[in-house]
Amino acid sequence: MAGSATLSNLETPVARLEGKVAIVTGAGGSIGARTVRLFLEEGANVVLVDRSAPALERVAAELPPVMADRYVNVIADVAEVDDVRRYVTTALDRFGGIDILFSNAGNDGPILNVTDYPEEVFDLIQRVHVRGCFLACKYTIPHLPRGGRIIVTSSVVGVQGVPGNCAYVAAKHALVGLIRGIAKEVASKGITVNGVNPGPVDNDFMRAAEASMSRLLGVDAAEMFNRKIPMGRHAEPSEVARAVLFLASEDASFTTGSCLMLDGGMAS
Ligand SMILES: NC(=O)c1ccc[n+]([C@@H]2O[C@H](COP(=O)([O-])OP(=O)(O)OC[C@H]3O[C@@H](n4cnc5c(N)ncnc54)[C@H](O)[C@@H]3O)[C@@H](O)[C@H]2O)c1
Repeated sequence: MAGSATLSNLETPVARLEGKVAIVTGAGGSIGARTVRLFLEEGANVVLVDRSAPALERVAAELPPVMADRYVNVIADVAEVDDVRRYVTTALDRFGGIDILFSNAGNDGPILNVTDYPEEVFDLIQRVHVRGCFLACKYTIPHLPRGGRIIVTSSVVGVQGVPGNCAYVAAKHALVGLIRGIAKEVASKGITVNGVNPGPVDNDFMRAAEASMSRLLGVDAAEMFNRKIPMGRHAEPSEVARAVLFLASEDASFTTGSCLMLDGGMAS
């Protein structure tokens, strides 16, 4: 009926993460910070994890003061087990549980062909992405209830290669393996594990990689990517955050072990 339709249009939308507790790693960075903001707006309490104290302070400074009792910053290296235990304990002590893990922290290295790639940088990149995500899952899962959610930031290069970045491509492929394997371990507990796989994002992380890539390949790498992306542009950090919110919410209740491509069709 027309009357009830009007009433239902006036209902206040329910916040999609009301009362949930989320851990966001890499929260001091572009995608992490945007996701933190969205999670808070949707009613969650959030533990912001990053190795960079200034980055966390910058993010907190931009959050409305009214949200101040719903988030806490933890300076931590995601690849150090004591640090991981500390951010898990912080979530439990401060907010009484954990419902959502967004494992998102990441680093990048120089753009070099494999024959020139330094061993120690290769190891460091696997350490942050792969060990960091493994530890996050290992120490978070025992506390997740039915309906718990894990979302991992992989990449378009988690499903296809690019030249000059073998360590990063390998790490992002490994994350897809973690997502798929762990999803099957925890499915019977009602916990979902999914990835978001952005293509190039319009932010400093990608601009730094593209500057280096432009030098190696002798072309404008940002333009090169835009030509490879059917939608013709980079992703906005907010587009990644909204996809993470979907996977963290009830709307994604029967989605697990999957990777949501956020690449404007690049890998299709
Ligand atoms: N920017 C892109 O184009 C793009 C595309 C696909 C995937 N990704 C992935 O998205 C994720 C977020 O990247 P972003 O684009 O927001 O870049 P960003 O550099 O803005 O954010 C990454 C954050 O991770 C933090 N970090 C790095 N190593 C850490 C460690 N050992 N412990 C704790 N924190 C650590 C950094 O301090 C930084 O704040 C990364 O996993 C990245 O690989 C980015």
